[in-house]
Amino acid sequence: MSLLLAIDDAKERPQIVEVGEQGEYLLVLYKPQQVASSVNSIVYRARLVRAEEPEEPGIPVVVKVPFENTRYGRSCLEREIEAGKHYADHPSIVRVYGGKISKRESYVITEEAKATLKLFLRKGGLLPTRQTIEEFTLSLLDALETVHTDNYLERGPHLHRDVKPDNIFLYRCESGFRFHTKLGDFGMWGSQKEAEEQWERFTIAGTPNYATPDIGETPPSPSSDLYALGLVIYQIVAKTEILPEYPQRMQERDLEPLQKDPLHPILVKALAQRESQRYHSTGEMRRDILQAQSMLKSRNAVYRQQVPLA
Ligand SMILES: Nc1ncnc2c1ncn2[C@@H]1O[C@H](COP(=O)(O)OP(=O)(O)O)[C@@H](O)[C@H]1O
Ligand SMILES: [Mg+2]
Repeated sequence: MSLLLAIDDAKERPQIVEVGEQGEYLLVLYKPQQVASSVNSIVYRARLVRAEEPEEPGIPVVVKVPFENTRYGRSCLEREIEAGKHYADHPSIVRVYGGKISKRESYVITEEAKATLKLFLRKGGLLPTRQTIEEFTLSLLDALETVHTDNYLERGPHLHRDVKPDNIFLYRCESGFRFHTKLGDFGMWGSQKEAEEQWERFTIAGTPNYATPDIGETPPSPSSDLYALGLVIYQIVAKTEILPEYPQRMQERDLEPLQKDPLHPILVKALAQRESQRYHSTGEMRRDILQAQSMLKSRNAVYRQQVPLA
């Protein structure tokens, strides 16, 4: 059965669609619950069950269906499915279970997250401790490091090209209350070489306000993903939101109120206007974060010592 028909029919009763290369999974669609819709696609909630064990409850997933099954939309989904296979089991990358690309219908199935970082920032649902901010950042750096040091099909380093709170997903830790982050939406993912070639033809993938200020002069590189990650950290630390489109654009002076924050020097570097002053590798950024973390720990230690013992 086609997924689109099933989504429609599930308004009446649950529907099952065979998925996987050999139909080894069943996608169970209840009353189709739309999780979200973006500019490009609609996302539905479903459960994925192994065809061998249809009685099992299966796992919660989401199915992303592009609004229009255009060639561009298909190429984004193709990237997602390919990246999903390639980075399967990475603890900081959203798990992709598969999908389908055809002229009739195209979709991708991924593990369901609790929310996006964007939603959390917007709803004020995130009251992150210092530790959480650093854990989030380190986990996203792990994801980016894998992508940046990749040599998939001998194509050299790869780039995500769309790091932003909408594409960062929150999952509950096994322990219960806490969350961890994973990087998702690999629709723009590709080799740095490909990104450079596209850039030479004046094609720039991504979200305008997350592009580096010098994108007109400097081709995309790992440093561009790290600039976007800097913007993500800035939004968590400053408890503010950066809109995806112009005219809002990050300025150096926006960082001034954060001068006392231990992450301030890291943000200044990640978000420097000049490319030469920014981070060029995940390792460099991680080192600075770990250093800020240890400074913070020793500050706490001093503080604790100052508290008089009862
Ligand atoms: N795995 C998921 N779990 C929960 N919500 C999701 C998931 N994937 C996508 N969404 C929701 O759908 C929106 C669009 O999904 P995304 O993969 O970013 O697609 P697009 O390519 O349209 O930007 C997300 O911002 C989020 O709100
Ligand atoms: Mg997205």
